[in-house]
Amino acid sequence: MIKKVTAAITAVGGYVPPDKLTNADLEKMVDTNDEWIRTRTGISERRILKGEGKASSDLGAPAVLELCHKRGIDPKEIDCLICCTVTPDMLFPATANIICDKIGATGAFGFDLNAACSGFLYGLSAGAMFIESGRYKKVVVVGADKMSAIVDYTDRTTCILFGDGAGAVLLEPNHDGYGILDTILKSDGSGRHYLYQKAGGSQKPASHETVNNKEHFIYQDGQPVFKFAVKGMADVSAELLEKNKLTGDDIAWLVPHQANKRIIDATANRMGLSQEKVMLNIQRYGNTTAATIPLCLWDYRKELNKGDLIVLAAFGGGFTWGATLVKWEY
Ligand code: UT7
Repeated sequence: MIKKVTAAITAVGGYVPPDKLTNADLEKMVDTNDEWIRTRTGISERRILKGEGKASSDLGAPAVLELCHKRGIDPKEIDCLICCTVTPDMLFPATANIICDKIGATGAFGFDLNAACSGFLYGLSAGAMFIESGRYKKVVVVGADKMSAIVDYTDRTTCILFGDGAGAVLLEPNHDGYGILDTILKSDGSGRHYLYQKAGGSQKPASHETVNNKEHFIYQDGQPVFKFAVKGMADVSAELLEKNKLTGDDIAWLVPHQANKRIIDATANRMGLSQEKVMLNIQRYGNTTAATIPLCLWDYRKELNKGDLIVLAAFGGGFTWGATLVKWEY
């Protein structure tokens, strides 16, 4: 009997830049305070990529190189690299191509995928299908975002939230049922008005006016996004469990998108999971958009055991949201 091919995560890499932006630093920049930020979001500090000309590819490239090193493969062996980002180095060409060039992944084709904070889950799903089809053997999915490039550091409602970072996973074929087992992805474009970058696209190309109006920065109407996020992430995670006839007791870890600790707590409660089973690093990195979930896997890599069932869950701009069930392979 031919066993079904699944896409197993066989290595994880991550990178955060060394420079920190703490709540105390932000207190000197805008009218905010450490207590408000920590109680409303769970964030204490974030990392910022500094240096002229540095971009998301400079976050993604070291994350992918680390992954290759751990797995003992040459970047030339990568078949495909999917870069999930809302802060590409430039509108085109794709940041995936730039990462491949920087790391010497000369055998890979690459493309970018934009599903905002759910980007990594969308990328993982696409990458898994390349493996499941039998066409490719080594697919890298990297979430990389230099959010500091699109944050207005005079807007206290957004500048406290975001940070820079990248995380990456390697997907390889598995014949023993490990890897990506199921995914539910959703989107609703009517939510686009609540969280977006107003200018710089084809609808409103860059002009003196758009720059003067600060329309190249993130705009977010926080409260409605919060409400949709709490419901969306909790509902889809519960739906994934039900669909697979699982309960919270079967799950070793929830790996949630790190946007707000209160959204994470609501999702864990809905799934019947205790705090100890929830990966959390928002306090150190803030919201790194497409990088939050792989950065959690990277931070908690030593605590994952072969056979663990884990649920990855996200909600973000678009709106986009989803949940993925993974059986850990190593
Ligand atoms: O990752 C993509 C998806 N994004 C998300 O999931 C983010 C979802 N939204 C949120 O996490 C929350 O809405 C925020 C953290 C952005 C804001 O928290 P909130 O509890 O919704 O606060 P709020 O916007 O209702 O503001 C409450 C008060 C307001 O003052 P008044 O009107 O009550 O006097 C704000 O002006 O807090 C004020 N405020 C601040 N105060 C100190 C807003 N930002 C700050 C700040 N420091 N940085």
